[in-house]
Amino acid sequence: MNQRKDAPIGVFDSGVGGLTVAREIMRNLPHERIVYFGDTARVPYGSKSKETVIRYSRQIVRFLQTQNVKAIVVACNTASALALETIREEIDIPIIGVVKPGAKVAALTTRNKKIGLIGTRATVKSCLYKTIIQKEDPQIQVIGQACPLFVPLVEEGWLKDPVTIEIAKRYLDPLLCQDIDTLILGCTHYPLLRSMLKTLVGEQVTLVNPAYETAKELERLLKREHLEHEGEEEEEFPYRFFVSDEEEHFQEFANSILPYDVKMTKQINIEEY
Ligand code: DGL
Repeated sequence: MNQRKDAPIGVFDSGVGGLTVAREIMRNLPHERIVYFGDTARVPYGSKSKETVIRYSRQIVRFLQTQNVKAIVVACNTASALALETIREEIDIPIIGVVKPGAKVAALTTRNKKIGLIGTRATVKSCLYKTIIQKEDPQIQVIGQACPLFVPLVEEGWLKDPVTIEIAKRYLDPLLCQDIDTLILGCTHYPLLRSMLKTLVGEQVTLVNPAYETAKELERLLKREHLEHEGEEEEEFPYRFFVSDEEEHFQEFANSILPYDVKMTKQINIEEY
């Protein structure tokens, strides 16, 4: 038995949002084990500097390495945009983020070459989605819009609340006025707003979910590196969850969105790594 193949995938985010990525991995790669870390003590990353996000991500990667993960998925869009390239140079296991898979599919999806991007301020400001998309096709225009209010609204569970719809209209109007035909949900929380956003943007705009595209990219990566989990047997605890603060809220949120009953979340001191 190849021990590396049996090792878990490390998935991390600034908090609960990355569970949308873990969820896609669970659905698409049901035999893979996962160690998830949510940095609930230091969330949000979206309003922090590049240096800070790199420092936080580095500590989390060190922690995940103590869990003997075979590959790492940076589920956080902000950390993927600001820290992934730096971290990749520092470790010798495969690591992927959510930005590239989402950007590539968006470039293939647009017909009129006008893509809208919604995300945190840091993700939009980094221009990484735009850079990757324009590498695929320099003619494509990418119009970014930071939507910082979406994260707390999703965490409050106000997915279809009139207040959320009103705020979404304010954020999306400038993008729709520019005639986008593709919209990237460039933040971990936004796939949970998917059906409300779809109603707002209409049939003519295709939504791209980087969480789903990342699970597909992970599948290709595991195949390429011969790292796919081989056993078919059911494991009692295939998924383990760690946070840097307050397990209770995390566990409640996890149980509201995952196809898996999270019974235990462990709090660790991430500053020690
Ligand atoms: N997880 C973050 C992202 O996808 C959103 C929350 C935060 O700002 O930390 O960008």
